[in-house]
Amino acid sequence: MKKIVHVVGTGTIGEPLLGLFTDFRDRMGIDEVTFHKRTPLASDRAKLNHLIQRGAKLAVDEDVRSEFEKLGHEVSFESREALERATVVVDCTPAGNENKEKYYENLSGPKGFLAQGSEFGFGKPYARGINDETLVPGEDRFVQIVSCNTHNITTLIKTIAHDDGKYHLRKGTFVCMRRANDISQSDSYIPAPNVGKHDDPEFGTHHARDAHHVFETLNLDLDLFSSAVKLNTQYMHSIWFNLELDRDITAEEVKKRLRANPLVAVTDKRYANLIFSFGRDHGYYGRILSQTVAVMPTVAVRRKREVYGFCFTPQDGNSLLSSVSAALWLIEPDWKSVESRLNPLRRWLYREI
Ligand SMILES: NC(=O)c1ccc[n+]([C@@H]2O[C@H](COP(=O)([O-])OP(=O)(O)OC[C@H]3O[C@@H](n4cnc5c(N)ncnc54)[C@H](OP(=O)(O)O)[C@@H]3O)[C@@H](O)[C@H]2O)c1
Repeated sequence: MKKIVHVVGTGTIGEPLLGLFTDFRDRMGIDEVTFHKRTPLASDRAKLNHLIQRGAKLAVDEDVRSEFEKLGHEVSFESREALERATVVVDCTPAGNENKEKYYENLSGPKGFLAQGSEFGFGKPYARGINDETLVPGEDRFVQIVSCNTHNITTLIKTIAHDDGKYHLRKGTFVCMRRANDISQSDSYIPAPNVGKHDDPEFGTHHARDAHHVFETLNLDLDLFSSAVKLNTQYMHSIWFNLELDRDITAEEVKKRLRANPLVAVTDKRYANLIFSFGRDHGYYGRILSQTVAVMPTVAVRRKREVYGFCFTPQDGNSLLSSVSAALWLIEPDWKSVESRLNPLRRWLYREI
């Protein structure tokens, strides 16, 4: 059986993900990479040409096929056909839940389906390094790769509060300071900081709620609360955090734990643009794949048990790593083999920035 990865959507997440799958196809044990593009646009022609040149095969809806062909693209499959023949489908659209109901649930060919951060309820929420062991072969056909800030929050908690197989967290509070839009997007920019509503009475915003659901897969019921504010920048998300532990800890120990986790990058840089710029110079498509970038001079411990600090969120890099990890697991659900198939990506898991 051919191992085929099919990516739906070519936006901020879909485009670099297709890059990773096409560039490292052989080393990941993938035979073919296909992708779906919804809208035929002359302004997207260069992007599509590049993806196709690298070996990804284009699938489109039948009613727009001729428009794609008029733009000069070779169309290899009709959308449904591409879904049917895929081993794993990676939905990178803001319509994963809708697509699940309309198409995915009725398909028997693919071994599994992934959707991204906005698609709460799509399937088991997953963040690499946090709850890998909860994925059940044959049972978890639908997996939701949680959002970039959820990756960051869950990684901070596991790194700082998890010890001797137990979580020592009394309460976690987070302020997610989000960039207004991505550099690949030209709409939704904002003129000034824009504070978010606390529309979840228990968790504040969806960031803490989503993190809670990730830990729930580990049978934990953590007390988490988040607030969000959008900043008028296109650089990285930043997070202020406070973790109250049920045991004593020192700032030195917190830093030691952050340094010891291969999924965490540490930095002395206090400006988001400098981290972003490091990604541009040393990342894959400008992305670093670490779950979080912890700012070491901001780490503080008050009254022996209250940990404070700031970190930056490698906004789509961490979701990309989890997407590849979950896709490889769905193809062959053996974590040892996934670890070796992920090797080509490890060079972008920075320990220090
Ligand atoms: N941006 C980030 O930093 C980031 C980070 C982590 C997670 N995520 C998550 O990733 C997902 C996608 O976000 P994004 O930022 O990559 O979005 P995006 O840049 O706006 O791209 C969306 C893509 O989805 C396609 N699309 C939209 N609706 C579709 C539908 N109904 N059927 C088929 N294709 C459809 C669009 O196709 P056309 O342009 O051809 O119409 C476009 O290629 C969201 O769940 C988001 O929460 C994003």
